[in-house]
Amino acid sequence: MTTPTLLRTVEDLGTVLGSARAEGRSVGFVPTMGALHAGHRSLMQRAADENDCVVVSVFVNPLQFAAHEDLDRYPRELEQDLVVCGEEQVDIVFAPSVNEMYPSPILTTVSVSPLHRILDGASRPGHFDGVATVVAKLFSMVGPCRAYFGEKDWQQLAIISRMTTDLSLPVTVRGCPTVREPDGLALSSRNVYLTDEQRTQATVLRRALDAGLELLAAGMRDPEAVGVRMAEVVRTASDAELDYAVAVPADTLQADGDLSGVVRLLLAVRFGTTRLIDNDGVDLSNGS
Ligand code: PAF
Repeated sequence: MTTPTLLRTVEDLGTVLGSARAEGRSVGFVPTMGALHAGHRSLMQRAADENDCVVVSVFVNPLQFAAHEDLDRYPRELEQDLVVCGEEQVDIVFAPSVNEMYPSPILTTVSVSPLHRILDGASRPGHFDGVATVVAKLFSMVGPCRAYFGEKDWQQLAIISRMTTDLSLPVTVRGCPTVREPDGLALSSRNVYLTDEQRTQATVLRRALDAGLELLAAGMRDPEAVGVRMAEVVRTASDAELDYAVAVPADTLQADGDLSGVVRLLLAVRFGTTRLIDNDGVDLSNGS
């Protein structure tokens, strides 16, 4: 258990990280919006394994919330988050105010097109531009580092990876495997909103992904057929309403002919007002 240093300003962050780098310490960075759970812990553990100094940012980013998405109700639990960070050997928690992050109205935003407007972007216009913009700012504040993101939010990871490459940012982006409940449900802060019945049925996401992977293992390369198979499985859960089920190249997220190379299966399913996402992948390079 450590006591992380809590920093509130960009200047303090620069000073502390400047000293760490002067001592030759490598920096691992885990950007979060707080309300830290086991999924975040796994990112921090990986960052601590691979780096000398671990920074976690806790910032609920207004730019990635739509007007109806109720930014004010998003959980803010800094005291508890500091305890979690201490348990995971985090050195620095950077928790800036909105004014510190956005001292003046922002005129410059980052948009990774067309990745920002497909799949989740279609139902959350502006969301991924808000994510890309705040992550670009955080990368600039933290400086050269390895940065850790959950594969659970695959589209976010694809957008951030592409942005980092396109803008030549001095950051190595690392995707970390999704943490799951024993029955296969991906951990998400949204799972608590499910009723008992919806929670039971929510395992359908994992089963649909498995059905898609099985079809690919059997040699199917038509993305539409794989999507249809996953959709069929989702429909076996009476309370599930499918948003999308796709099989796509893992980086562009848009199918262009038969599937080959590194493929990702992505799903979004609603249970009442709760929208769950999940994904899994396979490399078809050998034998595709
Ligand atoms: O995944 C999240 O928690 C957020 O989208 C991120 C990457 C911290 C940007 O606000």
